[in-house]
Amino acid sequence: MDNRLFFSATKRNKTFIGDVLSRIIQKNGSILEVGSGSGEHGVAFQKRFPETIWQTSDPDLRHRQSISSWILYEKLNLKMPQPLAIDVEITPWKISSELGLSLQVIVAINLIHISSWNCTRSLFKESGKLLSNGKYLMLYGPFKIDNEHISQSNYLFDKSLKMQNNKWGVRNLDKVNEEAYDNGFAQKELIFMPANNLSIIYKKVSV
Ligand SMILES: C[S@@+](CC[C@H](N)C(=O)[O-])C[C@H]1O[C@@H](n2cnc3c(N)ncnc32)[C@H](O)[C@@H]1O
Repeated sequence: MDNRLFFSATKRNKTFIGDVLSRIIQKNGSILEVGSGSGEHGVAFQKRFPETIWQTSDPDLRHRQSISSWILYEKLNLKMPQPLAIDVEITPWKISSELGLSLQVIVAINLIHISSWNCTRSLFKESGKLLSNGKYLMLYGPFKIDNEHISQSNYLFDKSLKMQNNKWGVRNLDKVNEEAYDNGFAQKELIFMPANNLSIIYKKVSV
């Protein structure tokens, strides 16, 4: 059965996000993506970085079914593992020792504003444990800078998120960075992306 979902933003942003990932992804090793959604990013990045293994995950069964269908549709089933049912807030994340040992990057795209603040805290805490020094955590999405929205559209988006769920919302980069520093990460790069989004690359620098 074809369970593929199609996310319009994902189709638009995958090339730009791939360009950012190309700065940190090295040959070999594995990438763990949390909150993978439809799986369109996962298959696009597996094709773009064929020497790595792209491990998708999502707590939502419908999303995992979509990811599996995308993997099959793109004929990547011999290369790409099936999605894991990781809920970032439920720790420790259940990953194989093979994945843990080969992990070079953890990626979270459009996740931390559509989940509770506890999800952000867990993301840094667990990534800090899983990634060794010199490895990366990459976030993509809308952020506030100095607690200010960077565009009117982000302000309106934030309002609409909070109306859907009062635990959701566009995060203040300073607060996100505090979590990063507390868990041994340094902010390596901040990249302004199309549609008022940011990519942030964190490097693990201490235990
Ligand atoms: C806005 S979608 C983004 C999907 C995908 N990353 C993209 O950019 O197309 C947010 C995703 O985060 C997932 N999600 C929500 N809460 C989560 C949590 N606590 N842990 C992991 N994933 C979560 C949702 O199931 C959904 O797939």
